[in-house]
Amino acid sequence: MVAGEHIGRTAVVTGAARGIGLAVARRLAALGAHVVLVDRDEAALAAAAESLSGARVSTLALDVGDEAAVARAIGGLDSVHMLVNSAGIAGPTVPVTEYPLADFEAVMRVNLTGTFLFCKHAAPKMAAAGWGRIVNIASLAGKEGTPNAPIYSASKAAVIGLTKALGKELAGTGVLANAVAPAALDTDMVKNMSDAHVEIMLNKSPLRRLGSADECAAMVQWLCSGECSFSTGAVFDLSGGRATY
Ligand SMILES: NC(=O)c1ccc[n+]([C@@H]2O[C@H](COP(=O)([O-])OP(=O)(O)OC[C@H]3O[C@@H](n4cnc5c(N)ncnc54)[C@H](O)[C@@H]3O)[C@@H](O)[C@H]2O)c1
Repeated sequence: MVAGEHIGRTAVVTGAARGIGLAVARRLAALGAHVVLVDRDEAALAAAAESLSGARVSTLALDVGDEAAVARAIGGLDSVHMLVNSAGIAGPTVPVTEYPLADFEAVMRVNLTGTFLFCKHAAPKMAAAGWGRIVNIASLAGKEGTPNAPIYSASKAAVIGLTKALGKELAGTGVLANAVAPAALDTDMVKNMSDAHVEIMLNKSPLRRLGSADECAAMVQWLCSGECSFSTGAVFDLSGGRATY
């Protein structure tokens, strides 16, 4: 990592009002990037921007599943060098047989459609400039399939497939697209889950603890750097030793 590496570059980070997105925004801003914080939670977005005071940040309140809003947001930027798709929701903790269709559609809309739309609209700008880094936050659930989180798992498996295809499509343009697959991290998303569900995840973890948002952001920071130069269409685990493939 090079100090000031991202001076003059713009990073778009979705889900940046809290959790992993905010931790990523903090790291990219510290390296000099202009960071565009995207989230649908306006109050938390304002607080996040405030917490980064001194850095070059701007905010965009939108729903990542709204294509017109995403196209307007990306179209309004002179350039995009880095895109980190972190907006996501967990959905209900119930088996397939009890999963409401409305929740299926809501989870897919944020986790898959939102990631797809930002990639679709930002990648051409990056390719035209000849340099870009895309990082999609998937999940270990997308590789393993987590019982009672079936649609979350499906949405993240789809994000992994999208990223693998995109990485190949963009090969040769200077734009790299990779995914991160974390196990449970200590953020609001996990705080909102039942103790029993979190206990199951902890019991599967050889390191026997939750990861932190900043541990994930450190990996994303590297994936956004010039030092990451020979990886694309790849999935990087961050699982406390839980991932087995
Ligand atoms: N925390 C974990 O254990 C964990 C593990 C694996 C993967 N992930 C993934 O990492 C990403 C970030 O998770 P987190 O733990 O920081 O979650 P979080 O709940 O702390 O933050 C997610 C942010 O996304 C925003 N968001 C949700 N729907 C949106 C929409 N339609 N449009 C715009 N913004 C929206 C929320 O307002 C929130 O600020 C998610 O994609 C999540 O699935 C998290």
